[in-house]
Amino acid sequence: MSAPIVLGIETSCDETGVGIVRGTELLANVIASSMDEHARYGGVVPEVAARAHLEALTPTLTEALERADVTLADIDAVAVTSGPGLAGALMVGVGAAKALALSLGKPLYAVNHLVGHVGADVLSEEELELPTVALLVSGGHTSLLLVRDLIDDVELLGETIDDAAGEAFDKVARLLGLGYPGGPAIDRAAADGDPTAIRFPRGLTQPKDLERHRYDFSFSGLKTAVARWVEKRQDAGEDVPVADVAAGFREAVVDVLTQKAIAACTDLGVPRLLLGGGVVANRRLREVAQERADAAGVALRIPPLDLCTDNGAMIAALGAQLAAAGRAPSGLDFAADSTLPVTTVQV
Ligand code: KG4
Ligand code: ZN
Repeated sequence: MSAPIVLGIETSCDETGVGIVRGTELLANVIASSMDEHARYGGVVPEVAARAHLEALTPTLTEALERADVTLADIDAVAVTSGPGLAGALMVGVGAAKALALSLGKPLYAVNHLVGHVGADVLSEEELELPTVALLVSGGHTSLLLVRDLIDDVELLGETIDDAAGEAFDKVARLLGLGYPGGPAIDRAAADGDPTAIRFPRGLTQPKDLERHRYDFSFSGLKTAVARWVEKRQDAGEDVPVADVAAGFREAVVDVLTQKAIAACTDLGVPRLLLGGGVVANRRLREVAQERADAAGVALRIPPLDLCTDNGAMIAALGAQLAAAGRAPSGLDFAADSTLPVTTVQV
């Protein structure tokens, strides 16, 4: 008997994702993004995202079924992100998943978005080796996890105490007048810059910070430091060297992210690091992570980019793992939970 076919729905932020897997085999991964609708605000507007999910869900679902070459009758189970994320956005996916599961008479698994990012890796050719440290970096999260077991034992080592890494890229891009989303814009601007020309602060890396916040992150101080640096130049009537500022800022973010992730691997004796989230699109992040992982004897795994950004396939993959392990489905009386802790893999 072949593995069950699971359909996964993801609507926690601005991507409407529908993915279909057969066990650990990816059949379809269709993503509609409302990013363009948020561009004029410089960040995701929750109400706009929720409405965009409503509009995009049915066409995205239809396209995923087509690409997977299956019909709804072939689906054995439905999985959905129930948290964490934007409440109104999550509700759209949760409502749709409940309706689908109920009408098809199939089990429904409500799963954790962050663990979904880790689950994406089971779709890779090589088997995911555990335990692993996972660094998840996007516009909404910056979390360092210790994953001993994908469906049973996920521990939060640390997270950002203020802005998410992607959010910092977006805010700094905005203050440099580079547009939204900030990550790619900063990347382009930084290409001609000198990353060592300006040394911006590395949040929570001082000895006194490390005692309490060894694996936590902070990016709001960095953003403010960039803003002050730029203002000072402007007040003095000098030109702002945008390329150097972008390169220096990017270097500070990448330095802290990789330093802390590798430190966790070394401290915990876990020689594996998995990256996930939209910020993984940053080439400098991947480069430095690889250098430091090699130096520390850590095996680095980076799923393909369309499985790193928010998507439905990772949710389907996690649902398939739960189904394969014989977990009871979630029923229909759970609700979207915008602050679902990462230790709760399934609701
Ligand atoms: O995972 P994702 O698609 O959606 C969520 O935020 O959940 O991540 C989007 C974030 C945005 O903040 C964007 O600026 C950032 O990822 N990003 C990047 C790059 N490409 C996208 N950040 C740094 N460098 C990039 N090349
Ligand atoms: Zn995400």
